[in-house]
Amino acid sequence: MAKTGKPKQMEGEVYYPSEQVIAQARLKDWDALAEKAEKDLEGFWAEEASELEWFKKWDKVLDDSNKPFYKWFVGAKTNIVHNAIDRHLKTHRKNQLALIWESEDGKEERTFSYYAMNREVSRMANIIKAMGVSKGDRVTIYMGRVPEIVFAMLACAKIGAIHSVVFGGFSVDSLQGRIEDSRSKLVITCDGAYQNGKIVELKAIVDEALKRCPTVENVIVVKRVGQQVGMEAGRDHWYHDMLNLPIANGKCPTEEMDAEDPLFILYTSGSTGKPKAILHTHGGYMVGTYSTLKYVFDVNDMDRWWCTADPGWITGHSYIVYGPMINGVTSMLFEGGPAYPYPNRWWQVIERFGITIFYTAPTAIRGLMRFGESWPQKHDLSSLRLLGTVGEPINPEAWKWYNRVIGKEKCPIIDTWWQTETGMFMITPTPVVPLKPGSGTRPFFGQKAEIVDEQGNPAPDDTEGYLTLLKPWPAMLRTIYGDDERYVNQYWSKYPGRYTTGDSAKRDKDGYFWIIGRVDDVIKVSGHRLGTAEVESALVSHPAVAEAAAIGLPHDVKGQAIHTFVLLRTGHAPSPELAEELRQHVATHMGPIARPEDVKFVDKLPKTRSGKIMRRVLKARAQGLPEGDISTLEE
Ligand code: PRX
Repeated sequence: MAKTGKPKQMEGEVYYPSEQVIAQARLKDWDALAEKAEKDLEGFWAEEASELEWFKKWDKVLDDSNKPFYKWFVGAKTNIVHNAIDRHLKTHRKNQLALIWESEDGKEERTFSYYAMNREVSRMANIIKAMGVSKGDRVTIYMGRVPEIVFAMLACAKIGAIHSVVFGGFSVDSLQGRIEDSRSKLVITCDGAYQNGKIVELKAIVDEALKRCPTVENVIVVKRVGQQVGMEAGRDHWYHDMLNLPIANGKCPTEEMDAEDPLFILYTSGSTGKPKAILHTHGGYMVGTYSTLKYVFDVNDMDRWWCTADPGWITGHSYIVYGPMINGVTSMLFEGGPAYPYPNRWWQVIERFGITIFYTAPTAIRGLMRFGESWPQKHDLSSLRLLGTVGEPINPEAWKWYNRVIGKEKCPIIDTWWQTETGMFMITPTPVVPLKPGSGTRPFFGQKAEIVDEQGNPAPDDTEGYLTLLKPWPAMLRTIYGDDERYVNQYWSKYPGRYTTGDSAKRDKDGYFWIIGRVDDVIKVSGHRLGTAEVESALVSHPAVAEAAAIGLPHDVKGQAIHTFVLLRTGHAPSPELAEELRQHVATHMGPIARPEDVKFVDKLPKTRSGKIMRRVLKARAQGLPEGDISTLEE
């Protein structure tokens, strides 16, 4: 994006869209649509929803009679898979590519048209049904980045089962807790997954987790790495064997769902305690992901869209699987990471497949920047027309590198702020919106965001405060699965009538929002959302540990890194070996992404008189900052 044109005077460093970008954009007048949606929220969303197919239309767009339990498209019948696959089979899209997959080593490539997608998803859906799974049952999906993870999600949705995808980088404890909480009947996994040339033994982790998960009746195992794995007779089934059964045919009716029926749950870390099962539904989530991807990344049939996230996070759910397929575009799924075997791997994929829109996380950009410009320069990246970022604030330096080196100053950088809970982009530009590096610009159509102080009073411009959202939106979480009370407390009770995001932010005079970071005990490590409570409970499960505290501190590449403080049980002495053992212990139990940067042994942890660890104080001390109000600190 170049600093050209000047539609209106704005403060700070502003990058205006080029005439060519404006000419190409589907939506040229951002203000007009924003104004229309502001005046008539329900009308805006009804129009968006009308672009999709429904078995039965809604009686009411929004039911807000029982806040904060909002309902969208009340009375309507649909199925997200009907719009992601079935409806395309009646059009030219039938033979267009839905999914392109490339293996980590680049030696294998698999592509699926919408027609093929329908066949693969139907086959898996029939197999899942044959395992006794029906509408409303939960299915845990714990896999690597292979096409079958996409089939599995869509197959569940097709028959009305609720999928619960657990990120393949999590380990035994995290997986077990999530299976147990969701009371899943079925687990779908792989024998293993490739990661930077090594194998992650997914099936072995499942076996370990299932020792404590009595609800699971069956396990489907997709062969990916070809390693020897234990198969428990009666419980474990190879997917390739089941594909030979007569039931595994390519025909499976798409279940008619109520718009408000659950589509999936996805666990995410909150401020306290165990991860929360965020619940999304068929109708509203479908409309929200469709509409946001359409306007924000302006996707069309010619695009090859690549979101580098893992399908196991919300970004993958909304913008590798559902959003792109509902829009009928071609979505790229790459098995590997950015720098294996060399730091040109992603640029190679862009060139090889002619990717037109590339969406990734600031941490990846910062990591790749370190390897220098020569790596991307080896590749023809001229197919790119838009770039995007998500997951954490992007520092202007990384923004500018991305703009210059990857986008060649011709691709707008779409910085999308949103959350597992929001399901869809919430604060984001579209290609025609002037950009300021580091700001996600303004709320999406129909939304109103406000920064407030501790008491809930609107904060003046350029003043840090709590980011809140004022309007309901169709892809909003409906509740925390099985815990309505926690849903209300967590998101709606601090400022009645407002959704609390858990982020701090500022708004500038142009109405642009600048995210600062989380205000709760959530740590964003390389864009991955982790809770301090989970790291702490992994630490105290080690026999040497009496008490533990975890905090996030700034890190050049990861954004934040986990630092821990440990109080040992009597009889155990601090040593570098023990510190290393504890770091490994967390990685084994939670997953390698949660491995602490360091473990400090302490004699005491700062606590309130009621015994709560004051992480804020630890954080301030570690950074040499003022400790703030410590009047509640115990003696
Ligand atoms: O702190 C914000 C940060 O990520 C949090 C949500 O994390 P998660 O549920 O894992 O979803 C991540 C992907 C949608 C937010 O509360 N965050 C997300 N996007 C941005 C961001 N911070 C700054 N800028 C963003 N674009």
